Amino acid sequence: MGKRLEGKVALITGGASGMGAAQARLFAAKGAAVCVADINDAGGQQMVDEIAEAGGRALFVHLDVREADQWQAAVARAEGTYGSLTVLCNNAGANFRVSFDEQTEEQWHVIMETGLTGAFLGTKAAVPAMRRAGGGSIVNMGSIASTRCGTNPGYAASKVGIWGLTKATALSYARENIRCNLVSPGNVDTPFIRQSNTYSPNTWETSIDNPENYRRRVEGTPMGRLVQPVEIAYAFLFLASDEASIITGTNLKVDGGATL
Ligand SMILES: NC(=O)c1ccc[n+]([C@@H]2O[C@H](COP(=O)([O-])OP(=O)(O)OC[C@H]3O[C@@H](n4cnc5c(N)ncnc54)[C@H](O)[C@@H]3O)[C@@H](O)[C@H]2O)c1
Repeated sequence: MGKRLEGKVALITGGASGMGAAQARLFAAKGAAVCVADINDAGGQQMVDEIAEAGGRALFVHLDVREADQWQAAVARAEGTYGSLTVLCNNAGANFRVSFDEQTEEQWHVIMETGLTGAFLGTKAAVPAMRRAGGGSIVNMGSIASTRCGTNPGYAASKVGIWGLTKATALSYARENIRCNLVSPGNVDTPFIRQSNTYSPNTWETSIDNPENYRRRVEGTPMGRLVQPVEIAYAFLFLASDEASIITGTNLKVDGGATL
């Protein structure tokens, strides 16, 4: 088999860390030109340097997914540098792990605007470029919460919402050969659930550095371990590639059975 993404140009949000970084590495290794898009400039540039050292093609673009004008600039940069844009991976998300009572309106807005509005704005910006290219593939980031909501209002609404957005996108652009699918990971070992970031604060109670919390997540996974970022990247790779040429509007769970 040749390189599975030869000729593709992929814009990957959240590409500086965790699952987005794993996609950037894997996609570049499989022949894609990669646009690492993130609010973390240092981390994003480091990823691009790593890809270049390994012989791949990549550029960094500063992108806050909540800003429509930044999306226009990012898509223009991808097309301007590599000639087209054919793959969009909407990874960026946010979470505040508090109860319904404790969740503030501000927290709700950050979760919704990053994980859901960000993917909507990205789709709006990328579709015209994909049309010009004769087709494309959009892969959105779901969660266990896309299926089993839990009690966190913003996260539940954002992750069920992105499943709706995925299906609406798939149906709207199917005739134009633009596909859209959702990947729903289980518990993935990334900074999102380990460290404390502004977009995803963790305390000792919620971090997987806490052995008790780690054990609880493993026990909630029938396959008995956490998911590694590269295992999610392989699902994104498949859906981005022509191997998935007739697959649109699906929710691919990659969770070790956590939603069964
Ligand atoms: N880690 C898990 O267990 C898990 C499970 C299911 C779904 N998810 C989803 O995965 C995504 C997070 O990915 P990760 O787990 O690899 O986390 P991560 O923290 O390693 O990476 C998230 C990246 O997104 C970037 N980012 C945050 N806000 C942004 C914004 N406004 N614009 C652009 N970039 C932004 C961060 O800078 C970071 O580089 C979220 O959508 C989250 O809901 C995570």
